[in-house]
Amino acid sequence: MKRIAVFTSGGDAPGMNACIRAAVRAGHYHGLEVFGIYRGYDGMIQGNFLEMDDRSVSNIIQKGGTVLKSARSEEFRTAEGRKKAYEQIKQLGIDGLVAIGGNGTFTGAEIFFNEYGIPTVGCPGTIDNDLYGTDFTIGYDTAVNTCLAAIDKIRDTVDAHERVLFIEVMGRDTGYIAVRSAIAGGAEMAIMPEHKTPLKNIVEKLKYGSSESKASHIVIVAEGDKVGRAADLADKVLKEIPSLDVKVTILGHVQRGGAPTAADRVLASRLGLGAVEGLLAGKSNVMAGVINRALVYTPFHDTITKKKPINKELTRIIEVLNGRKYQATEEEQSAK
Ligand code: F6P
Repeated sequence: MKRIAVFTSGGDAPGMNACIRAAVRAGHYHGLEVFGIYRGYDGMIQGNFLEMDDRSVSNIIQKGGTVLKSARSEEFRTAEGRKKAYEQIKQLGIDGLVAIGGNGTFTGAEIFFNEYGIPTVGCPGTIDNDLYGTDFTIGYDTAVNTCLAAIDKIRDTVDAHERVLFIEVMGRDTGYIAVRSAIAGGAEMAIMPEHKTPLKNIVEKLKYGSSESKASHIVIVAEGDKVGRAADLADKVLKEIPSLDVKVTILGHVQRGGAPTAADRVLASRLGLGAVEGLLAGKSNVMAGVINRALVYTPFHDTITKKKPINKELTRIIEVLNGRKYQATEEEQSAK
């Protein structure tokens, strides 16, 4: 292997730059030429490559976003698009790829590898933390801390006005951001796709809180929850308890930006290095991840098809710390 290329794809995540830096410098350390591909798979199709030296990744470890830009490519979903991408890669003599992204990125990478056999190792970069094969994804810790800063501020005004605040956080199909920010932010509930919370339970909880003279409530809602998004939920709850003073805040894309936390920078550096050294060791079609503090490589196929369950202990913390006896979900009861 002589020449590799690194790219970022899908939703950006804080720490992607630290990962690019790690891949570029690890490549040079091992005597490789390293190219950056701009705008993810779209850039691969268009031949948007630029050789990177060590200095081209100076002063980016602390920055959010991605210096290589990112995109969700429609063209790469087509066989013609992937053929064009392969021709660009072949023409430039690229013999290995480092793909930084999430589910969609690795779905594309797996198809591309199966069609053209270019060795590819992925680094999990998504704030959603929903990838099987790693305990944490790059950007997740920063996103949770961003939510937490917002929740702390919101709590001041919720408390002053004795309100109920539904705060919607990101997580297209998952409640990872919701559960962690709910625990750290001391919220009453976290509503998420992985654990069905019937409306009546939400209503009961809020009624119970009011009966206990609890004046303010914070409920964290993952955007992907099937009961509804925060605004829908707030409407439904208000219909059941019209006396509540209910407000909704959608945190949105603020969660995707900002300087990565130390945890994300370290993880990104470790995985960028791990991806390059994985390629050199002959690994391919796998994602580098960290499980129980050890660097592991998991086939793309598993990362995109297997579900990483949310630790039930975490959801239980929210229940127990909110002053009511824990009630097992139907799923848990049937598992007993
Ligand atoms: O996958 C990361 C993520 O931030 C999700 O949490 C969110 O649903 C989605 O991306 C938003 O994507 P976009 O920025 O393309 O609207």
